[in-house]
Amino acid sequence: MSTGSSSKVKFFSGEEIPLELHKVRIVQKLFLNPIDQRLKAMQTAGYNTFQLNTLDVFLDMLTDSGTNAMSDNQVASMLQADDAYAGSQSFYRMEAAIQEVFGTKYVLPVHQGRAAENIISQVFIKKGDIIPMNYHFTTTKAHMEINGGTIFEIYTDEALKIKSTNPFKGNIDVSKFKDLIKEYGAERIPFIRFEASTNLIGGQPFSIANMREVCKIAKDNGIMTLLDASLIGENAYMIKQREAEFKNTPIKDILLAMFNLVDLSYFSSRKVSSTRGGGICTNRKDLYEKMRDLVTLYEGFLTYGGMSVREIEAMAVGIRETTDETVISQSPSFIAYLVNELDKIGIPVVTPAGALGCHVDCMGFLPHVPQSQYPAGALAAALYIISGCRGMERGTISSVRDADGNDVLADVELLRLAFPRRVFTLSQTKFVLDRLTWLYKNRNLVGGLKFVEEPSVLRFFNGRLEPTSNWAEKLVNQFKADFGDSL
Ligand code: F0G
Repeated sequence: MSTGSSSKVKFFSGEEIPLELHKVRIVQKLFLNPIDQRLKAMQTAGYNTFQLNTLDVFLDMLTDSGTNAMSDNQVASMLQADDAYAGSQSFYRMEAAIQEVFGTKYVLPVHQGRAAENIISQVFIKKGDIIPMNYHFTTTKAHMEINGGTIFEIYTDEALKIKSTNPFKGNIDVSKFKDLIKEYGAERIPFIRFEASTNLIGGQPFSIANMREVCKIAKDNGIMTLLDASLIGENAYMIKQREAEFKNTPIKDILLAMFNLVDLSYFSSRKVSSTRGGGICTNRKDLYEKMRDLVTLYEGFLTYGGMSVREIEAMAVGIRETTDETVISQSPSFIAYLVNELDKIGIPVVTPAGALGCHVDCMGFLPHVPQSQYPAGALAAALYIISGCRGMERGTISSVRDADGNDVLADVELLRLAFPRRVFTLSQTKFVLDRLTWLYKNRNLVGGLKFVEEPSVLRFFNGRLEPTSNWAEKLVNQFKADFGDSL
């Protein structure tokens, strides 16, 4: 198997272009509808991109979750699935892949990442506990808080800077961790959580040097270490690119080094292995036994955990493919292309480019839209209307209100344009670049949003909003003036 990555291919012209090291063999037709139809679709969706029907979407950059392209070997593996409620061979093949790639003996299968968060939170968190981490993820926070925990994000000073050259913005601040232990006592800290390729701050990695240091402090204080490995492949790839010690280390050894440092890990297979499902992994029998019964209660028997056996087969192959640099470098190299092109023309984006997607800084893009009017939600709606590209709001709409019902303004207001692995082409990426450039020139036309229907839990999924003025119609008129009848 080749272990090269597209970033190793140099063009004679000197241009920095990501190269697809795969060929397309199954395709899905896309629809780029006229702008009036897109405006209508956005209105019907309550100005929430989660509520769009994919028939109305041209490039679906909402997420990489469950949308990465599967490999031929993954699809082929599904034919050998062993349909059995208990003791399925499919499970044992997946378990063997985890043991080989992650180096962990025990695996509990779950139907997706948040199911792992539910079980881990129920088993290990009690009321009043303190949970330090580099940064929260939406579902993680919800599960940990429901179980009585309080999250402390102990990121470094660089983490939230939009423009930065820091290679490891996902690192944990060691002195903040020590201070927390001093202030609350180690007995109130059930575990410290590392999130690989820290999602909500722009897909930013942590280094192994940081992991080693933090894990040593945790160990010295009897605190368990937990790794959210949903985006582990990309974090490992960025370690290889950015951490001198690992420049010549094969990805498979970087992965093993990361898992070896922690007591417990979990992952959303929707991200890590281009399939559905998830898992909880450990080498500690005591931890495995504490969680086992909740898997049978909430998920299913221990050899399927709420997944179909076909998904489990594809997951086994996908986990092995995580060690292939051509697979895990594909999304970061396309993201880097778009981020660097946007940065060159002065459009504010999170730098350095990370994993998962290109993250546009909406407070920088729409400085005239107050945070209370959700600039990231507004930009997501505007981009969809003018291009058919669906991104995801990662800002205040994705957070929750405080006990008094006030919005808690997010640290950063980001529009995430996800690059699922091996899905989009370079010309599609250039189309996004082109439409974002037009939108930036016309940014003064974009206004804010307000909620008209607001669920109390994870409101960003099902909430409905409307524009604070008729800005969307004005944007459509300007688009027509500039583009005529072009889509
Ligand atoms: N942890 C991280 C870091 C994630 O990014 C996600 C999902 C989860 C846990 C939960 O996993 O969706 O399988 O239940 N992230 C998706 C996203 C939803 O779009 O970023 P899940």
